[in-house]
Amino acid sequence: MQKLLDLISEEMMKAFEAAGYDAALGKVTLSNRPDLCEYQCNGAMAGAKKYHKAPLMIAQDVAGRLQESPVFTEVAAAAPGFLNMKVSETFVRDYLRGMRGDEKFGLQMPETAKKIMIDYGGPNVAKPLHVGHLRSAVIGESIKRICRYAGHDVIGDIHMGDWGLQMGLIITELQKRKPELIYFDDSYEGEYPQEAPFTISELEEIYPTASAKSKADEAYKADAMEATFKLQNGVRGYRALWDHIIRVSVADLKRNYVNLNVEFDLWKGESDVHDLIPGMVEEMKKGGYAYESDGALVVDVKEETDTKEVPPCMILKSDGASLYNTTDLATILDRMTQYHPDKMIYLTDKRQELYFEQVFRCARKTGLVNADTQLVHIGFGTMNGKDGKPFKTREGGVMRLETLIQEIDEEMIRKIRENAETKGYEIDEQEAERTAKVVGLAAIKYGDLSNQASKDYIFDLDRFTSFEGDTGPYILYTIVRIKSILNKYAEQGGSLEHIAIEEAVNESEKSLMLELAKFNAVMETAYEEIAPHRICAYIYDMANAFNRFYHETKILTEEDAGKKAGWIALLMLTRDVLETCIDLLGFSAPERM
Ligand code: ARG
Repeated sequence: MQKLLDLISEEMMKAFEAAGYDAALGKVTLSNRPDLCEYQCNGAMAGAKKYHKAPLMIAQDVAGRLQESPVFTEVAAAAPGFLNMKVSETFVRDYLRGMRGDEKFGLQMPETAKKIMIDYGGPNVAKPLHVGHLRSAVIGESIKRICRYAGHDVIGDIHMGDWGLQMGLIITELQKRKPELIYFDDSYEGEYPQEAPFTISELEEIYPTASAKSKADEAYKADAMEATFKLQNGVRGYRALWDHIIRVSVADLKRNYVNLNVEFDLWKGESDVHDLIPGMVEEMKKGGYAYESDGALVVDVKEETDTKEVPPCMILKSDGASLYNTTDLATILDRMTQYHPDKMIYLTDKRQELYFEQVFRCARKTGLVNADTQLVHIGFGTMNGKDGKPFKTREGGVMRLETLIQEIDEEMIRKIRENAETKGYEIDEQEAERTAKVVGLAAIKYGDLSNQASKDYIFDLDRFTSFEGDTGPYILYTIVRIKSILNKYAEQGGSLEHIAIEEAVNESEKSLMLELAKFNAVMETAYEEIAPHRICAYIYDMANAFNRFYHETKILTEEDAGKKAGWIALLMLTRDVLETCIDLLGFSAPERM
């Protein structure tokens, strides 16, 4: 379907043209004086110079042509030359009926779908997920869903950190603790055990210990580097241990991401492109891009128009070892040959901005991507505590993601019980817990996604879990309220089928209808700007519009059955649009709360 605002503009443009003016002047926008009108057009003012006419006269001319328009019920010329409009109730009703009949509420699908790869999550194996991993997962998941809903072919890749020194560190520490393990016996040629010689909790403890030791002890670090080298060169026992580390860690990661309602299509990691590195480096040398500088292999990526210093992209360290850059470049090569994406979107902390600039330029310069392949880095801000500093535990440590989720869930259970008590209904322990998980996730995700990604934000437990205000629980509460009305209507014997939206009978109903009608425009913007916060702003406005309508209208006690059915149809559309939107944000609504 065409966007509502475009239809309105078209009508206005026709009137400009019919009155003898340039049609382009007829562009309509939302009113910035909602007390006066719903939409406005400032074209008469823009045309005054060109036509040597008072803007008010042009506006009057145009308004005169629109008195019979099926789109407007009111078109007024106002000094000094504004056109103020109200749209027709019938026009809006028909538009919403069209939305209800359309699979995606009138969102137009692209002529050709793009292949988009999204690189998000990016956990490091054997390290517990902490709050720093939250944003990449939450924002990335939403972007994946938005792109997919917009009609594109989207692949989400977790891109795990599963290679390099961190793995060497773990292996080294294991060897110090359990030198008798068969994996360290170079002469062993048999099969290795199926069972991992450690649990996930041991693994999570081993890494920080090893990392701390290597910083304090040169010899330990040398051992870890050697272990990394042996692993990367395929020493059997090391590879077998590595397999165990990955298996144990991935199982735990999967459990965590399921709890976050985050799903990856690909569980690839840095290790998957290891074998591509030598060939890629060779090509970069052959092409004359990579050269040696202080022993290291680098590619210059600075450009004349740079206003900041962009250092060369390092491809190999002086000891020939690969780096974070190297695996990212090889991953681009891998993605291009395996999936041929039109676009790759990366979600990381914004401190990696310059890093990705270097990697992208290097990929372009060395021909890893096509000229029209889009490479986009979305750098997000930090999640801060109430003190404005990066979020920490009370003791000042890094908070595990699981702990954070647990704290939210506990607060949610408390609020849900409290709410049941004031509303006077029974809620059993299990239901309260289940609901708390659903609402808690909405609190976390909405709290994050409602901010523009690049901005820092403050994680405020009290605010995020509140049933009022610009929060996830408020949105869910609104959906639950609608569902409850629909259930009651059905209980009264009303049918939810074959009912149609009617013309608005009051102002709050019309506002709600106009909010709903923005759906395809909002989705388009959210996709184009890669901006989930647009959807949050939209559903917050819609929830407000709905609640105002709800407070001003006695829906269930309405005597006029036709009117009542029309409202029920409107509620169904509101529920469906809201539920679609929260699904795009990566959470869902309970039946009651
Ligand atoms: N594992 C990385 C980290 O913890 C994030 C990976 C982001 N993605 C990428 N393609 N570099 O910083």
